[in-house]
Amino acid sequence: MSEASVLNASGSRIAAEYALDLCARVAAFTDVPGTITRLFLSPATRQVHALLSAEMRALGMRVRVDAVGNVRGLYAGAEPDAPVLLMGSHIDTVPDAGAYDGVLGVAVGLALVRSLAGRRMCFAIEIIAFSEEEGIRFRRPFLGSRGLLGELTADDCSLRDGDGVRFAQTVREFGLNPDELSGDLLTPKTFAFLEVHIEQGPVLESVSKPLGVVSSIVGQTRFALTFRGQANHAGTTPMPMRKDALAAAAKWIGFVEETAQNTPGLVATVGNVRVTPGAANVIAGSAEVTLDVRHASDEARWAAVKILLRGAESIAEARGIRVAIVETSEQNAVEMDAVLREGLMRAAGNAGEAVQGMTSGAGHDAMIVARQMPAAMLFVRSPGGISHHASESVLAGDVEAALKVMTALLAELQFESFGRGNTWA
Ligand code: GLV
Ligand code: MN
Ligand code: MN
Repeated sequence: MSEASVLNASGSRIAAEYALDLCARVAAFTDVPGTITRLFLSPATRQVHALLSAEMRALGMRVRVDAVGNVRGLYAGAEPDAPVLLMGSHIDTVPDAGAYDGVLGVAVGLALVRSLAGRRMCFAIEIIAFSEEEGIRFRRPFLGSRGLLGELTADDCSLRDGDGVRFAQTVREFGLNPDELSGDLLTPKTFAFLEVHIEQGPVLESVSKPLGVVSSIVGQTRFALTFRGQANHAGTTPMPMRKDALAAAAKWIGFVEETAQNTPGLVATVGNVRVTPGAANVIAGSAEVTLDVRHASDEARWAAVKILLRGAESIAEARGIRVAIVETSEQNAVEMDAVLREGLMRAAGNAGEAVQGMTSGAGHDAMIVARQMPAAMLFVRSPGGISHHASESVLAGDVEAALKVMTALLAELQFESFGRGNTWA
């Protein structure tokens, strides 16, 4: 076994226990008591920053929080100017989330560094805890990873949250410098990104395998639609004279579901509805709804989006009301790096773990980072296929398997690819 393969059977169990304990400690920090809810740069996020920073320092890492609020820990390589392997995932959550979506990837990264026990490799390892991936607070996902790559625009900076607070102001109030947001925040010589993440679906369980190697991540588009009718008295306004924004939205939501059900490979979701004024005895004046559309084929997704938006317009028109449509996010499908994927498959073989090649229906930071460097993902089975829910879970043995595979991959990067002039550096 190579020097980097530091995890023997009991070592990998201890590393998995550490990772799971860290996930539990992170989960204790929430903006909404009784749930796990952590939005971008919230008070609970500040507590997670303190926890992760302390953990990283204890592991001998150099720690910083970059301008977009990503927590970064650098574990130096054997040489001061060694290339840098980036690993991690996100620490923001959906409302009432589970404990593992995102956080597991950060915890596994730190567990790997911990298992090195001070040994240095020919590359440095940077663990990143992305500040924003879910798109909840500002209705635009991937702000942490886009910030890392220097992709944030003036439009991103002027996004407003539900309280009207701008993105750039949130950054400033957290104590960070929004003037640095447009810069490239990557550590020089970063050569690849690896993200360990729960699968968030039922595939691995259905094939009885603990781990998956992601081949590609489906594209996704998100919109905010506002149906605007006329608020009026619920008792006195005859049915033919109403301009009910919520009834229009409801009809369209049914159309969205039906269209997706009848289009192979398409998933489309209206996950949030805000009704104004929102009273039992008032006809809805406006209904603001979200739309999330995904398909493995970008062309099929774009075609579906056209149909769904035209549907909204014609439903509104038929009722004499208006609909305003704003695109909030658009990401094409992304292939994961073939060399790293093969490396993960080989590493799994070397570690004696069963892996399944698979597509990801969920969006991930890796799909953004892949724009600037080779990126790959290792999935960990999600019991019951449940995610974005409080009952999301992982099996300790599966986390242990992921740690073994990642350790074997690090060994390969250390002793094979780099030693023989790798193509990634
Ligand atoms: C991220 O969780 C997504 O929405 O796919
Ligand atoms: Mn998620
Ligand atoms: Mn996630």
